[in-house]
Amino acid sequence: MLPDFPWDSLAGHAARARAHPDGVVDLSVGTPVDPVPPVIRAALASVSEVPGYPTTHGTPALRAAAVAAMARRFGVVGLSEGAVLPTIGSKELVAWLPTLLGVGGRAVVFPEVAYPTYEVGALLAGARPVRSDGLTALGPEVPGLIWLNSPANPTGRVLPVEHLRKVVSWARERGVVVASDECYLALGWDAEPVSILHPSVCDGDFTGLLAVHSLSKSSSLAGYRAGFLTGDPALVAKLLEIRKHAGMIVPFPVQAAMSAALADDDHIAAQKARFGRRRDALRAALVEAGFTVEHSEAGLYLWATRGESAWDTVSWLADLGVLVAPGTFYGPAGDKHVRVALTATDERVTAAVVRLTTA
Ligand SMILES: Cc1ncc(COP(=O)(O)O)c(C=O)c1O
Repeated sequence: MLPDFPWDSLAGHAARARAHPDGVVDLSVGTPVDPVPPVIRAALASVSEVPGYPTTHGTPALRAAAVAAMARRFGVVGLSEGAVLPTIGSKELVAWLPTLLGVGGRAVVFPEVAYPTYEVGALLAGARPVRSDGLTALGPEVPGLIWLNSPANPTGRVLPVEHLRKVVSWARERGVVVASDECYLALGWDAEPVSILHPSVCDGDFTGLLAVHSLSKSSSLAGYRAGFLTGDPALVAKLLEIRKHAGMIVPFPVQAAMSAALADDDHIAAQKARFGRRRDALRAALVEAGFTVEHSEAGLYLWATRGESAWDTVSWLADLGVLVAPGTFYGPAGDKHVRVALTATDERVTAAVVRLTTA
């Protein structure tokens, strides 16, 4: 049984927030609002006449661009181009990875407060979802898969290198695959997030490790559905084989767009600066309005609390015309927090700041 789709339960508050005379400020979903950078749009358009099937493995240009970007942006060296596999955004991969790895019947471990699709993926595979931030709590059972997510959705928490190293060595001793969802890796504010494939974490040995990347947030490509995974060549080859049979193929124009996005760091810096300004403004306004902002040292969200139930805070903000997500969407431990996304235009962020600071 899959859980109810969480956003449906926000409908009543959303209707109230939309009724605000100056309109809603929707900070409930991490969807980009800034236009796709021209260099990426041009790449997409330049191949729009190509009629044939794309390859599941992605073009050599795309895989080379991904390897180069991982080295340039994140210091991940030694990846092979064969070990890059494009995905149709990263959500589908998160939802299907346990099935593709065949871990049904076993435990799939993911953070206590987490992006809901880790649980969904475990359930789709017939695996057992286990929420845990620590390995000791797992007991003697050897899980089929461990998910990490740093910087995290929804908390913005960054796992330090020592923590990542511990997970990698624990998993290696037991032959467990570690999948690291790194879709917010380029958005470090008060801490510098590190990839699981960075030499300081894995000593250059990618065995059993997969890094999952998305172009949705940093390159504003959520609408294109553009992601990739990389890491252990043997695991990537196994996933490629199944995905070829199953038709899990990224459209060719999107592959071209991804190549251009991965080759260009200017738009990444510009987008990060935009998110940074919105973050500073929203954070200060939330604090002024009496919130405590926890974690949030990286990523696309502020994890905020007024020390009351999450739904009470959602309701209070909805009355101001500001829509946020209750922490309970991400697990029972989120019951006193709300997640505030940085994904609104400057004009809407300013509107939220005014409402919060005059409330
Ligand atoms: C932690 C995490 N992983 C994966 C995704 C999926 O992103 P996409 O499918 O757009 O790549 C999201 C989206 O919000 C996310 O927060």
